[in-house]
Amino acid sequence: MSLSKSKSNANANHSSVAAAPKPAISPSSIENDAAQNLQSSIEDSATSNELDFVHDAVLLQETVAAVLGVKSLPKQTGSATQSNNDQNGLNISGIYVDATFGRGGHSRLLLSQLADDATLIVFDKDPTAISVAQELASKDSRVRVVHDSFATLTDSLAAMGITQVDGLMADLGISSPQIDDGSRGFSFMRDGAVDMRMDTSRGKSVAEWLEQVDDETLANVLYEFGEERHSRRIARAIKQMESYDSTLELAEVIKEAHPNWQRGKHPATQSFQAMRIFINNELGDVDDFLAQSIPILKSDGQLAVISFHSLEDRRIKQFLQRHSKGQYPEDENLPMPPNRPRYFSKPKRVGPSKAETSQNPRARSAWLRMATRTDTEYQQTAAP
Ligand SMILES: C[S@@+](CC[C@H](N)C(=O)[O-])C[C@H]1O[C@@H](n2cnc3c(N)ncnc32)[C@H](O)[C@@H]1O
Repeated sequence: MSLSKSKSNANANHSSVAAAPKPAISPSSIENDAAQNLQSSIEDSATSNELDFVHDAVLLQETVAAVLGVKSLPKQTGSATQSNNDQNGLNISGIYVDATFGRGGHSRLLLSQLADDATLIVFDKDPTAISVAQELASKDSRVRVVHDSFATLTDSLAAMGITQVDGLMADLGISSPQIDDGSRGFSFMRDGAVDMRMDTSRGKSVAEWLEQVDDETLANVLYEFGEERHSRRIARAIKQMESYDSTLELAEVIKEAHPNWQRGKHPATQSFQAMRIFINNELGDVDDFLAQSIPILKSDGQLAVISFHSLEDRRIKQFLQRHSKGQYPEDENLPMPPNRPRYFSKPKRVGPSKAETSQNPRARSAWLRMATRTDTEYQQTAAP
């Protein structure tokens, strides 16, 4: 694929990006560290699962307990991931959503706690994840599958005649199988075309975008979504490449352009993360999903979201601060802040145990945030 010097703007479907600083500034080191951990810990865990393309579900028990609104799950006698209703399960009725099916780790445990008349709607953008979900649905009539972004939550549920649900869970980001399969283009350790789309059935690949984007927009993306402080220098080097056929070549160019590497971390970590987040509109989708959780959740319904980097976790935290504590940044300087509706109560954050992080390196940067929907009626005017 040859390099096009076209100067068109970035994909208009994506949220606008802030300008990278001139010269580059250093974002908060704590938040930056959390963001940087994401791709490296996925690549670490992917290495260990290389042959079988499996995904170890993170914060599994905690997330399923949270979405069901219980403190903990009863001890399982059989497989923790069985799809049929477990004799020892809680036998809970209701309608639940797994917004990010992946390989179904969270879904299967949730199903083991649900009654025969319950419904579980699962979403994923990834066609391979959807094939696995369809196989599960063919064996378990409680499961319904949506091949689309969780940002389409309201419309996709409405198409099934569902207006409200009892619980929503999401395990954000990419799965180990997506990284393991070099041909998907997410890995800087396995070669493949520079694609990085979660949904390979639509949209633009990173390679196609790189051919069109100008240096400045690329630098801004690297800075905003990867917190890459050397974004300008790296963007210039990427734009000088003749083609974008190989993730390993791209990673090498970034490595050469990067002036200071951190020990134990590939210098392309943040740039790959940035391009992936941008091309999949990951942050925009999370914002849309969170906003829709307010009208979609029934009173006492549960929201449980796992994130793997600070850009996502900050959004979820601020969303829950606004809607549980009434803390709106725009109210800060007002002498009489308006009385804001409290749509959520009991917001809580849970991290992985030491045992989990030692067994699954991918869990290192995970945070689960959960909250309970109050009975405050949704007011359309109070946009999230
Ligand atoms: C971390 S994995 C989920 C793993 C899953 N919980 C399991 O136990 O196997 C994230 C999944 O979410 C999907 N995904 C990411 N963003 C999405 C979005 N906006 N809409 C739907 N699916 C999305 C990815 O394709 C990936 O399969």
